[in-house]
Amino acid sequence: MNAEPIPLLRVEGLRKHFAFTKGILFSRTLGHIKAVDDVSFDIKAGETLGLVGESGCGKTTTSRMILNLEEPTEGRILLDDEPIHGLQGPALSAYRAKVQAVFQDPWSSLDPRMKVGRTIAESLIVNASRDRKRGDQAKIAARVRELLQQVGLRPDQAEQYPHEFSGGQRQRVALAAALAPRPKLIVLDEPVSALDVSIRAQMMNLLKDIQAQDNVAYLLVAHDLATVRHMADHTVVMYLGKIVEKAPTESLFADVRHPYTRALFSAVLVAWPGRQEEEIELRGEVPSPLNPPSGCHFHTRCPYVMPRCSQQEPVLREVSPGHSVACHLFDNAWLGDA
Ligand SMILES: Nc1ncnc2c1ncn2[C@@H]1O[C@H](COP(=O)(O)OP(=O)(O)OP(=O)(O)O)[C@@H](O)[C@H]1O
Ligand code: SF4
Ligand SMILES: [Mg+2]
Repeated sequence: MNAEPIPLLRVEGLRKHFAFTKGILFSRTLGHIKAVDDVSFDIKAGETLGLVGESGCGKTTTSRMILNLEEPTEGRILLDDEPIHGLQGPALSAYRAKVQAVFQDPWSSLDPRMKVGRTIAESLIVNASRDRKRGDQAKIAARVRELLQQVGLRPDQAEQYPHEFSGGQRQRVALAAALAPRPKLIVLDEPVSALDVSIRAQMMNLLKDIQAQDNVAYLLVAHDLATVRHMADHTVVMYLGKIVEKAPTESLFADVRHPYTRALFSAVLVAWPGRQEEEIELRGEVPSPLNPPSGCHFHTRCPYVMPRCSQQEPVLREVSPGHSVACHLFDNAWLGDA
């Protein structure tokens, strides 16, 4: 029997707890915000993992730890089976070249005073090996032109400034800069949510085409479930720093299990042609991550709450192949008979 190939990215028991302090001169720690609390998942080469959940559930904090911009409180992140913790100097630069990012607001990664061709060239040079840095200008210019074409822009647009582009085009430039060092993984944090609905589909299709050409993997953070359904091979649903459900995307949309996911997906599934879903209203606000509810964090809002839900934290368990749920409703649902 063949062993499973090593995933490109492995996230194991990841936690990020921020100290919550009061006072300016003599600050006291009043508690910890458990922004990410025991999160594990894998991303395979050339695949997309969707990360969804309401605002504040820990999506960006998870992404920032993967980008090595934030140090985990606990847990490990491995790229190609190599832990990323403690990387420094050239090893850290090599990691940054392999794991790039595109954010919701392309302005965050574009310098308004720099022609976009130069921004893309800088990404190429900063991330290149020493030999490449010595490479001649003509080669760099050729690669910039190639990248602009790959993202559907004209090579001559290298001479333009960011303000001369539309929002959708600026996001394409940010993508070209991210693609410059030929990354293995791109973190896409809400990549289409700032774009007009009419051009979202174009951007999603472009991302998919690039993935097919370059075998790049994506970690896709998105509020919009239609984007996740269109793009992601696997989906992870988070609530107050924890994973409540993870599954292959098709399996998740065909057979939503966790009450929180059902509520989140409800409006979308009701609108889906051929689906007879009962709409579950997501009542109330997300509780504070500083003082999350005991037991199941979702018990204060769950329409199926049972006495044990406020006392015992449910464990994430596999209920069908590749499909895991953390909910007491599935405590006795074993693989195959769920
Ligand atoms: N540097 C920080 N210091 C303290 N708390 C933080 C910090 N960064 C994030 N948090 C808190 O951690 C929690 C998770 O935040 P995060 O930005 O990861 O959420 P998110 O899922 O990306 O939300 P959104 O959908 O709004 O982008 C929030 O309660 C947030 O206030
Ligand atoms: S464990 Fe209980 S409160 Fe939590 S989602 Fe399941 S039924 Fe609802
Ligand atoms: Mg965020």
